Amino acid sequence: MLTLTDIHAGYGRTSVLNGISINVPRGQLVCLIGSNGAGKTTTMRVASGMLPVQSGRLALEQQPLDGLAAHHVQRHGVSHVPEGRRVFPSLSVLDNLEVGAYRRARFGLRAKIDDDLDRVFGYFPRLKERRQQLAGTLSGGEQQMLAMGRALMSRPRVLLLDEPSMGLSPKLVDDVFAAICELRSAGMTMLLVEQFAATALGVADYAYVMENGRIVLHGTAQQLKGDPAIRDAYLGKAH
Ligand SMILES: Nc1ncnc2c1ncn2[C@@H]1O[C@H](COP(=O)(O)OP(=O)(O)OP(=O)(O)O)[C@@H](O)[C@H]1O
Ligand SMILES: [Mg+2]
Repeated sequence: MLTLTDIHAGYGRTSVLNGISINVPRGQLVCLIGSNGAGKTTTMRVASGMLPVQSGRLALEQQPLDGLAAHHVQRHGVSHVPEGRRVFPSLSVLDNLEVGAYRRARFGLRAKIDDDLDRVFGYFPRLKERRQQLAGTLSGGEQQMLAMGRALMSRPRVLLLDEPSMGLSPKLVDDVFAAICELRSAGMTMLLVEQFAATALGVADYAYVMENGRIVLHGTAQQLKGDPAIRDAYLGKAH
């Protein structure tokens, strides 16, 4: 559904991605693992249109997305939850969520937005309890849930999640993964970058391993879990 084909990209003259090809099929959870600085976040930035490609193709179904600005990519249904969960700290939980639906809010589709809020609160009941609280006063895990909830408010066709477990306690990592699994069961298409490779491979359908801006290995999550090279290099890290 979302395809990156032979992508080269970088920052200024520094090239970071040296020919990345990734396919995220509809309804699947695909994870991207690799050591620090491998280029995972850069790949997510390319997929969401935040970083232009130097060469290669980005497409959603048959629709080419390369060359489009991030807000146009989002309009086509790609929603990005960036590393470091950026919520609006001085807005309430509810207002943060409504920002995610701002396009529809402009057209007065209030009832639909209320449906979406109910759906998001179904995934993250804690956000419902705290809907009037200022986002900046939420715990790290709650902010991550809010960042994911806000992305869902745009009714994405594909969700890009960059290290949703970063900085969270083990209990909250479990909660975030439970929400990811629920989304997957509901049919959401997702690309997940995750430092806890074992946890990610436990829930993903397919995985790509990245080193130095290249994909060095890919296969079903099941295959990669059983691969001794992967086990030694990445699977030590379980939360
Ligand atoms: N804005 C930027 N300007 C210049 N170089 C950058 C920028 N962002 C990232 N880089 C460089 O690109 C390379 C890949 O970084 P990236 O953030 O994609 O890695 P990552 O795989 O997400 O790492 P991590 O696991 O630490 O999050 C790194 O060498 C990094 O220093
Ligand atoms: Mg990163």
